[in-house]
Amino acid sequence: MEETNLLYEGKAKKVYETEDPDLLIIYFKDDATAFNGKKHAIIDEKGALNKTITVKAFNWMNECGIPNHFVEENSGREIVVKRLKMVPVEVVVRNVIAGSLAKRLGLKVGEKLPEPLIEFYLKSDELDDPMITEQHIKVFGWADEKTIEKMKELALKVNDCLKERFDRAGIELVDFKLEFGFDPDGNLIVGDEFTPDGARLWDKETKEVLDKDRFRKDLGDLIEGYEKILMKISRI
Ligand code: TMP
Ligand code: ASP
Repeated sequence: MEETNLLYEGKAKKVYETEDPDLLIIYFKDDATAFNGKKHAIIDEKGALNKTITVKAFNWMNECGIPNHFVEENSGREIVVKRLKMVPVEVVVRNVIAGSLAKRLGLKVGEKLPEPLIEFYLKSDELDDPMITEQHIKVFGWADEKTIEKMKELALKVNDCLKERFDRAGIELVDFKLEFGFDPDGNLIVGDEFTPDGARLWDKETKEVLDKDRFRKDLGDLIEGYEKILMKISRI
């Protein structure tokens, strides 16, 4: 599939229109950012690794019957996806305490949560993606109650599906971020990406951090972590 117009350029992705008005192309860049872009680097091969990992994750979702926007792989570091009307909310699912949850509530990193925790953040670079409640989403009209319920239900299904597969690959799915959108028929489906840029993935045995925290917290070579993830998930 060929790109036509550049529709949008984000921190780590470019989104292009195609000749088909219902399909878009996502191009995974080599840029790594953290702290809302305050820390930035170009890391060779990151885009290619993210593309391969996100394809695997969407294939897993398909195995689990979870509706998503993935259509097919394109050349190089690109995928073809359905064009969605996005809900302007980031949905975070957490299985283990880490990141902003540990910091905000003074909790110990690495402790398992008794059940998955779902949080909502407003997608806004200017505001640094503030955490919001379901009520904010309803009151400000970012999504209605039915959509919120559906996002929670799908987020938990994605968690069950991916957690089990990562576990078999020797990886602990600590937390991750999803985005949702409506397809032309009005169905709410999983959009965006699933990559180690937006998920925490630890080696199950050694607890080695394999995701973008390597870059955020200078824990080691990012590519080495992403390659380990890919090697492990390719085996199952
Ligand atoms: P947090 O602990 O910083 O709130 O992040 C929770 C998860 O969400 C983590 O896996 C990284 C992901 N995430 C994004 O994908 N984009 C973001 O802008 C932020 C802050 C987190
Ligand atoms: N995605 C955000 C950024 O690029 C925050 C993060 O991932 O830490 O700055």
